[in-house]
Amino acid sequence: MFHELVRKNRSYRRFDEDTPIQEELLKKLVDLTRYTASGANRQALRYVVSATAEMNDKIFPQLAWAGYFKDWAGPSEGERPTGYIIIAQQESCKANPYDVGIAAQTILLGAVEAGFGGCMLQNIQYEKLQIILKLPADIHVLLVIALGKPKEEVVLEEMHEGSNDIKYYRDENAVHHVPKRSLRDILLG
Ligand SMILES: Cc1cc2nc3c(=O)[nH]c(=O)nc-3n(C[C@H](O)[C@H](O)[C@H](O)COP(=O)(O)O)c2cc1C
Repeated sequence: MFHELVRKNRSYRRFDEDTPIQEELLKKLVDLTRYTASGANRQALRYVVSATAEMNDKIFPQLAWAGYFKDWAGPSEGERPTGYIIIAQQESCKANPYDVGIAAQTILLGAVEAGFGGCMLQNIQYEKLQIILKLPADIHVLLVIALGKPKEEVVLEEMHEGSNDIKYYRDENAVHHVPKRSLRDILLG
């Protein structure tokens, strides 16, 4: 069911490295984006996939995880993403900014449907990543999607009406809780 898929599609930051995501699936997820909406149908986004340990190890240090967790430097060895999809664009042919989110969400939903999951990351070392990926000077990274087999439990928490307590938190059992605003709070009028 689509509703279930949307709810299950959480930002996962800890993965089971014993069940790596395959390059073929990463390419299928990129293939899915070809069918998504695109401003003026320019389809200007470009993608890089990584599923090798060698490349993954170079990408990982360029990412900043869970900004609200000041005492967590991100997933430890054995719990790191096993694949990445990097969304980029050409400087001379920029994408409509909304396209990025549509593509990223489509990729993640496809990953969850296939039994995997991931996390969008915008807090990244853009220049270093550019070099690591050997991208030409006119191609710029917009967003990284880290992927793998989720190894953490993520629970959605209904926020009380009027509450502004948006910070996700981890409990003593390492369960990750994500507050979501009430329908009444996001509906205007
Ligand atoms: C545009 C965008 C950028 C994000 N960047 C990061 C990031 O750099 N690091 C990170 O750990 N999470 C990042 N996230 C994940 C958010 O923290 C996450 O969506 C939020 O906490 C809500 O959790 P949920 O996705 O499970 O609903 C990003 C999400 C979006 C949509």
